[in-house]
Amino acid sequence: METKIKTILECAIKAPSGHNTQPWKFKVMDHTIEILPDYSRRLPVVDADDHALFISLGCALENLLIAAHQFDWETKVSFHLEHPGKERIVVSLEKGVPINQDGLFESIPIRQSTRNEYDGKTIPEEDWNKIKKAALQEDVNVLVFNAPEEIKSITPFVKEGAISQFENKEFLKELMHWIRFNESKAEKTRDGLSSKVSGNPSVPEWLGKIFMGLSISPEKEAHKYEELILNSSGLMLFIAERNDKKAWINVGRSFERAMLQATALGVHHAHMNMPCEEVPVRKKLAAYLKLKDGMEPMLLIRLGYSEKMPYSFRRPLEEVLV
Ligand SMILES: Cc1cc2nc3c(=O)[nH]c(=O)nc-3n(C[C@H](O)[C@H](O)[C@H](O)COP(=O)(O)O)c2cc1C
Repeated sequence: METKIKTILECAIKAPSGHNTQPWKFKVMDHTIEILPDYSRRLPVVDADDHALFISLGCALENLLIAAHQFDWETKVSFHLEHPGKERIVVSLEKGVPINQDGLFESIPIRQSTRNEYDGKTIPEEDWNKIKKAALQEDVNVLVFNAPEEIKSITPFVKEGAISQFENKEFLKELMHWIRFNESKAEKTRDGLSSKVSGNPSVPEWLGKIFMGLSISPEKEAHKYEELILNSSGLMLFIAERNDKKAWINVGRSFERAMLQATALGVHHAHMNMPCEEVPVRKKLAAYLKLKDGMEPMLLIRLGYSEKMPYSFRRPLEEVLV
């Protein structure tokens, strides 16, 4: 495979994905790369309609495009989403001219979901403007909450979503399936949520599962998330203008570009998606924000400053090529 194509694909697979499932496959042809969903990696409980799966594909698409532009390729994207199970995102590459990408390419290998506590320091207005500008994308609306009372007003929805999820045994079972309780398992599978990345100790899998089963309390989890939100510098809510695959992919593109821009500015981010994942809470949040009919809050992200955390694993490129 040509070195530039390999680099572009390596950038694509550095994209974030729900539970780090990496639900993608890539098909490389002469001047075309296709991105395909890998339904064997779907999350039927937390993501029953596959919106997070398509958002993840959108993140991979955005990284792929940024990397292609870095090599002065012009890209055209077409979406073939009408046949369930046979969806394809087709990217064609042609020689183009250099374009300024504001450091987004350099941010691809250093972006991470940083799940520790932030220090509450204010993000300067000009940096917020850059992050908001990077998020501009058709089919997507973005709201920013960065005044303390605005941030506080969103916490009840996060707590309600977290309680609803952690009271659900099926949710916990699915989450545990993707947790890599120790480094040797994480290194072997190179996917999922490793303990180290979340700041937890490495333990044998059987012990981790027993401990998690015994120690999880929905109220404690909700309280933990409330604290994390209140210590952040702001929240971003990514809203799909329609509830369909194309809009979900575009949410992924918008989110990934915004987070690469935040990374370039030294701002960390982590997901607080519970109110978007629990549909009844999502509807309440949409009503509270007076969103137009059909608009769906998809991702809630906290942003702020903190120490870096260890990076999550990715499967090798060969495993995701068809
Ligand atoms: C659509 C989507 C949903 C996600 N949901 C959550 C979430 O609810 N909680 C969380 O802590 N991380 C969430 N993440 C972050 C992933 O767990 C993370 O991207 C993955 O573990 C890879 O780590 P990285 O982002 O540091 O590369 C989500 C990511 C995506 C793209």
